[in-house]
Amino acid sequence: MSVTIGTPLQSSAFKVLLLGSGELGKEVVISLQRLGVEVHAADRYDHAPAMQIAHYSYTLNMADAEELKQLIQQVKPHLIIPEIEAIATQVLVDIEQQNIATVIPSAKAVNLTMNREGIRRLAAEELGLPTSAYRFADTLESFRAACDDIGYPNFVKPVMSSSGKGQSRVKNFDEVDAAWEYAQTGGRVNQGTVIVESQIDFDFEITLLTVRAKNAETGEIETQYCDPIGHRQDSGDYVESWQPQAMTPAALEESKRIANKVTIALGGCGIFGVELFVKGDKVWFSEVSPRPHDTGLVTLASQFQSEFELHARAILGLPVNTTRHSVAASAVIYAGVDDRNLSFSGLNLALANPNTDIRLFGKPEGFKRRRMGVATARAETTDQARELALHTATQVSVQQN
Ligand SMILES: Nc1ncnc2c1ncn2[C@@H]1O[C@H](COP(=O)(O)OP(=O)(O)O)[C@@H](O)[C@H]1O
Ligand SMILES: [Mg+2]
Repeated sequence: MSVTIGTPLQSSAFKVLLLGSGELGKEVVISLQRLGVEVHAADRYDHAPAMQIAHYSYTLNMADAEELKQLIQQVKPHLIIPEIEAIATQVLVDIEQQNIATVIPSAKAVNLTMNREGIRRLAAEELGLPTSAYRFADTLESFRAACDDIGYPNFVKPVMSSSGKGQSRVKNFDEVDAAWEYAQTGGRVNQGTVIVESQIDFDFEITLLTVRAKNAETGEIETQYCDPIGHRQDSGDYVESWQPQAMTPAALEESKRIANKVTIALGGCGIFGVELFVKGDKVWFSEVSPRPHDTGLVTLASQFQSEFELHARAILGLPVNTTRHSVAASAVIYAGVDDRNLSFSGLNLALANPNTDIRLFGKPEGFKRRRMGVATARAETTDQARELALHTATQVSVQQN
């Protein structure tokens, strides 16, 4: 069965509710609106990027089950797209069970990936995929033991956190107590559990964007892959990405095998950002986003269908094309200051090169390390593309008003 799209703002509208309205959601909204979908966007603060362009927007605490339920009852969406992890996911499980709306990609995927423990146990223990060695701990005492067990250096992360919040790399036992303190304050919710992971000594890390979409003829869900995206992380947050990342045919095969297994287990249609560590032919699963991935912003410049268009099509049950047309890179534009109401200049210089592009997300408030925009660049080689993207990002200057 294929989707029928009505007219936005009319009774026939095909409605999507976006939970979390950041820059990735904003691009998904643009892609959906190009296909005539009516978009409702929610976030916990006013004027979030995707809210600025949606047909309707709502400010609420999406981690509050009652508030979330009420919103869903009010909007009556066909699809619910969770764009962030801090959501009352049990509500989504109920919604799916009662057939009230389709949760993208599935309530199971959203539920398991919001907590590092859920997805790690699925990947390593149920699916048998290679991962770093790991332990979970919920008291300082068990945490100390877990660190000693795993060895040093190790990575410590609150199980309910993202974008490097509360994470540290612990080099020896003397740093253990500080890492515990930091993890307790950096998590998304007041839930003390942390994961301790052995450090993987990788050559590079990739995001393998993996799309589960229906075949136009058979209606069967098929798995397709974008070319691997290389990226550089600074304190757990992405700074630049490029596509394609060169790797051995064996490592690429293994990456696809891992991505295929984990995305099948999560289920549903849509794009997944499968994060993998690579050393020679060896590949480790790290984590997965059941939605577009920040490092995938590079696909705005490199692919016929960006990760956002791929997601929009896949969730509507439409066919996708993952072909890359260019070598490209992306580099983040930071606020550099803690302030609201910022201005951006130097755009004429940034865009003087015809192979560059930028996105400014329109976030109402900036923090020093908050991502306010992204620069993309196409070139002959990934090295040239990276250099050009980084240069383009630095040409954008941020002013306080
Ligand atoms: N076990 C590990 N070994 C080596 N590097 C790691 C490990 N875990 C995390 N990292 C580094 O930290 C980054 C962020 O970790 P990740 O688990 O992806 O957290 P987040 O959910 O915040 O993105 C990774 O992209 C990688 O660069
Ligand atoms: Mg990550």
